[in-house]
Amino acid sequence: MSGCKRIAILSSGGDAPGMNAAIRAAALVGRSLGADILGIERGYKGLLDGAFVPLMPGDVQAILREGGTILGSARCKEFHHKEVRDKARANLANKGVDGLIVIGGNGSLTGALHLADPTEIGDGPSLKVIGVPASIDNDLGLTGMCIGVDTAMNTIVEACDKIADTATAHDRTFIIEVMGRDCGYLAMTSAIAVGADLALFPESGKPEAAIIDQIVNTVLTVRSRSRKSRRVIIIKAEGVSVPTERLKDLVDAALREKIPGSEPGMIETRVTVLGHVVRGGRPSAFDRLLGSRLGNVAVRALVGGISHKMTAWMPPDEVPEEVGSPSAFDPKIWLVDLAAVLVETENLIMGRSPLTRWRAGAFDQIGDALLL
Ligand code: F6P
Repeated sequence: MSGCKRIAILSSGGDAPGMNAAIRAAALVGRSLGADILGIERGYKGLLDGAFVPLMPGDVQAILREGGTILGSARCKEFHHKEVRDKARANLANKGVDGLIVIGGNGSLTGALHLADPTEIGDGPSLKVIGVPASIDNDLGLTGMCIGVDTAMNTIVEACDKIADTATAHDRTFIIEVMGRDCGYLAMTSAIAVGADLALFPESGKPEAAIIDQIVNTVLTVRSRSRKSRRVIIIKAEGVSVPTERLKDLVDAALREKIPGSEPGMIETRVTVLGHVVRGGRPSAFDRLLGSRLGNVAVRALVGGISHKMTAWMPPDEVPEEVGSPSAFDPKIWLVDLAAVLVETENLIMGRSPLTRWRAGAFDQIGDALLL
C-alpha cells in the first residue's frame, strides 16, 4: 500500500460547526508527516472549477473556534454524473493530488466513494479517499457522532431555555421546529436536555391524526397541573411530514373543541422555527475535539496508504471486523468501510436499522415518563 504524498481536503454539503477543527488537524498532522496539503474551496463545485488553495500552518492555526468552514461548502447535484466526476478526477490528477479527504454528510461521502471507484478510474491515476462524518443531523451510519451535532444540540437547548421563560410567563404552548432533515436525533436528544413535554420525530411513523392527538393530550395533561408548570414545550423535527404551521392550526382547532368557552388566547399555540440558527455558531469543545481527532486519523490513514474508509467516533452498533475496527492511531476513532457506511445510513433513514428502532422506542418510554 503506497501512502499519499499530496492530499487535498474539501468540505461539502451543509456546513457543521467543528469542520474547521478537522481541516486544521488534517493540514497540520499531514504536513508533519511530510505530505503536501491543499484545500479545495466550495466542495465539489470548487473541485470542478479547480479552486485549489494552499493550506499552510498559518492558514489553519487559529480556525478552531470559527463556525462554518474556512474552505466554504456547496451542494453539487451535477456530481451524480460520471462525466462530471471524470472532470473532477482530471483536476485532481493535474494538481498531482493522490489522496482526498471529504468532510461532509451522506451525499458528500457518496460522491467520495464514486470518485475513488476503481471501475470509474480505469487506467487513470489512482486516487485514495477518506471520509470524515460531518452533519448536524447525526444521520450517518457506523459512527456514534458526526461533527456539528453537539454544537447544534447546545444551540437548540439555549434557544428552548429562552422560549421556556416566556412560555412559562404566559402559560403558553410552543412548537419549536429543529433541523435534522429526515432524522429525529436532534429533536429527541434536545427534548430530553430541555425537559420538553413532547418530541415529534419522523422515525415514530405516526400519521397526522395521531400527532394531533399526542399534542392535544400533552397540552391537556400539562394544563391540569398547578399554575407553575403549565407551559408546554414541544420539539418537532423538521422531517415530520406535517408542516409546523398546519400542525398549529389543527391543534388549536382541536383544543377549542375540547375546551369550549375558553379564551382564544389560552389555546393559541406559538411556533418557532429555529432553521439555520441551529447550524451556525462557535463549535463546542466536544466538536473541536471530535473534529481534531477525526481529521488526525483521516490524514494518517491516507499517508499510511489506506483508502475507501470513513473515520468514525465509536460506532453505536456491533461492527463486523471486515467492516471496521478501531484505528491504529486513536483507539476511540474507528476506520469503517465507506460503502458499508452508506448502506447503514440508508437503513438508519428508512427506519430499518435496529438503532433507529431503539431510538424511537427509547424515546417513547422517556416520553411517557415526562408527562407523569
Ligand atoms: O443536512 C444538514 C441540514 O442543515 C439539514 O438539517 C437541513 O434539512 C438542510 O441541511 C438544509 O439545507 P440547506 O442549507 O441547503 O437549506
